[in-house]
Amino acid sequence: MKDIQAHMAQLTRELKEHNYRYYVLADPTISDREFDARLKELEALEAQHPEWKDPNSPTSVVGGGITKSFQTLKHSVPMLSLSNTYSKDELIDFDNRIQKTLGHPVTYSCELKFDGFAISLTYTDGELIQALTRGDGVQGDDVTTNVRTIRSIPGKLHGDFPASLEVRGEIFMHRKAFEKMNAERIAAGEKPFANPRNSAAGTIKMQEQDEVAKRPLDAFIYHVVGHERDYTTHLGSLAKVKSWGLPVNEHSVEAASINEVWDFILEWDKRRKTLSFDIDGVVVKVNEYNLQGELGFTAKAPRWAIAYKFETERAATRLNSISYQVGRTGAITPVANLEPVLLLGTTVKRASLHNADIMRQLDVRIGDEVYVEKGGEIIPKIVGVNEDARPDLAAPVDFIHSCPECGTPLIRKEGEAAHYCPNELGCPPQIKGRVEHFISRKAMDINSMGEGTIAVLYAHGLIENAADLYDLTYEKILGLSNETENPETGEIRTVSFREKSAQSIIDGIQQSKSVPFARVLYALGIRYVGETVARKLADHFHTMDALISADMETLINVDEIGEKIAESVRSYLSEERNLDMIQRLRNHGLQMEAEAKADLLSSSLEGKKIVVSGVFQSFSRNELKALIEQHGGSNVGSISAKTDYVVAGENMGPAKLEKATKLGVTILSEDDFKNLIA
Ligand code: IVH
Repeated sequence: MKDIQAHMAQLTRELKEHNYRYYVLADPTISDREFDARLKELEALEAQHPEWKDPNSPTSVVGGGITKSFQTLKHSVPMLSLSNTYSKDELIDFDNRIQKTLGHPVTYSCELKFDGFAISLTYTDGELIQALTRGDGVQGDDVTTNVRTIRSIPGKLHGDFPASLEVRGEIFMHRKAFEKMNAERIAAGEKPFANPRNSAAGTIKMQEQDEVAKRPLDAFIYHVVGHERDYTTHLGSLAKVKSWGLPVNEHSVEAASINEVWDFILEWDKRRKTLSFDIDGVVVKVNEYNLQGELGFTAKAPRWAIAYKFETERAATRLNSISYQVGRTGAITPVANLEPVLLLGTTVKRASLHNADIMRQLDVRIGDEVYVEKGGEIIPKIVGVNEDARPDLAAPVDFIHSCPECGTPLIRKEGEAAHYCPNELGCPPQIKGRVEHFISRKAMDINSMGEGTIAVLYAHGLIENAADLYDLTYEKILGLSNETENPETGEIRTVSFREKSAQSIIDGIQQSKSVPFARVLYALGIRYVGETVARKLADHFHTMDALISADMETLINVDEIGEKIAESVRSYLSEERNLDMIQRLRNHGLQMEAEAKADLLSSSLEGKKIVVSGVFQSFSRNELKALIEQHGGSNVGSISAKTDYVVAGENMGPAKLEKATKLGVTILSEDDFKNLIA
């Protein structure tokens, strides 16, 4: 019996070591097959002897198990909060207080203030043994099993870590992941989260560990508990923590004066939108631990730190009415018409209300005072309602049931938040929208035309689709005119085609015939086929005919083309009227084939289908993919029996590894790959 226990411990140790060699050092010493075999062996033993299973076992790093409920445990040291300020004057007061207490100036650390929720992690002998939420500051919830699913938080430290270590930091969700998750929630009929912070906090409190593992959380460590023993400065200890494998944000700096702190704040107030996650300010701390000790704490917060919070770019104004816009895909966007309000230097009159779910969630009513924010996007959005200021008779708003443009009853597609007008062929904004997309700059770039031109041509019955543009002649359009409305301003203007403008429209249309195939493909406006996807498809299939005859499987096998895109392409290219239009465009001389590629660097990868996975030392994934093509190989998105190689970097997903091994696909390390093309 003892032997089995010892053997399990031995296997666990070995597998952890191999994981570390594989993922961190990118230098495995055993084959994936061997690794899998040992992992299976350990799994079987753990099933027989769960009592001997290591809580950080490599068999359960991700997924598995349901946590019944969270135990509440006391923090070793209370988790305090920070005093906040929004003003430069108060920041200067903070510095003055410190200088007065200490009798001399100090250096500060400046860190980003991550907008998530706080966590305290305990490591014993380098193993993660406990993760507690802040709770009420004195005791928090034990969310260790859920925290183990967070990839950036190591289960095991490496390097010269101390035998016992407690660190604190913030768990958060990247904006992209948040948006994706919300779209899925709405599709499943669940309530969307208001922001990434709430969704991160909601996720870590979930009972189903499998579900938590699917929602990508991330973390940064910003505090070491009981640090004074070993290090002299805060930034110094963060650097140490980083060397043990814990995630530490790279943007912290040391500031020699409060003026330098202020420069950091101004810089990040501007730059914060470029981050992939939300920050809500900057945290300023006295850098020297002995000086922190001298300053001490108030009942609630340390005297040696302060959080400077950014102004939110928000304004309050009245909601006058809601109108509904129909896009080229038929999607309906509710738009709030607002009492004009100044927000960061521009007057805002309209803001997006996104869709019916968000409208219901906000419970906006006509006459309400609403809060408008400028997020990362250009179009401002309504983020909340002042319910206290609600007029007595304000009734809830019912989303429209039929198209405001053509009267057709609206539909809701499965899995989508938007309502749609299904009258693709008869709804004017959809017809005009498709042609507007076709002529747009990144598509056919017919810059002698615009929305106004299209409106006139449509009003005169000259265009129903893009191919009709090429039947236009100077004689047919000369002298046409119409009144059109600018949808942004509501302003009415007359557009008319005199000699000069008529000629430039016809010239522009003629010139567009030399636009490359990839852009023609993009111009068609197939759903989910943006510029990049269009280029990918053009590079892969070379001709329109090859694309038309590609089946689902062939499409999905193209690098970065998933099922959703493949389905959309198939459905577009199987409709008779789309094929007719493409045929007419072809007859008019548009490019339906990609130009021959530039010369290859070598043919060492000729005919090879290659999957790229993970992160690489010497090149970005895109550089690696470009290299594959320059050496005659082709990139494919997912591993199948037809795949020749998988180039594996750090952090290659275990599922991919397993699939490749199972199908006997050769796995190349970064160096193997370099040798192959050398
Ligand atoms: S230091 C005693 N540093 O902001 C040390 N906190 O408003 C206290 N936060 O509870 C925390 N980024 O959840 C610190 N770089 C950072 C932070 C940070 C975000 C959060 C943390 C804290 C809250 C205080």
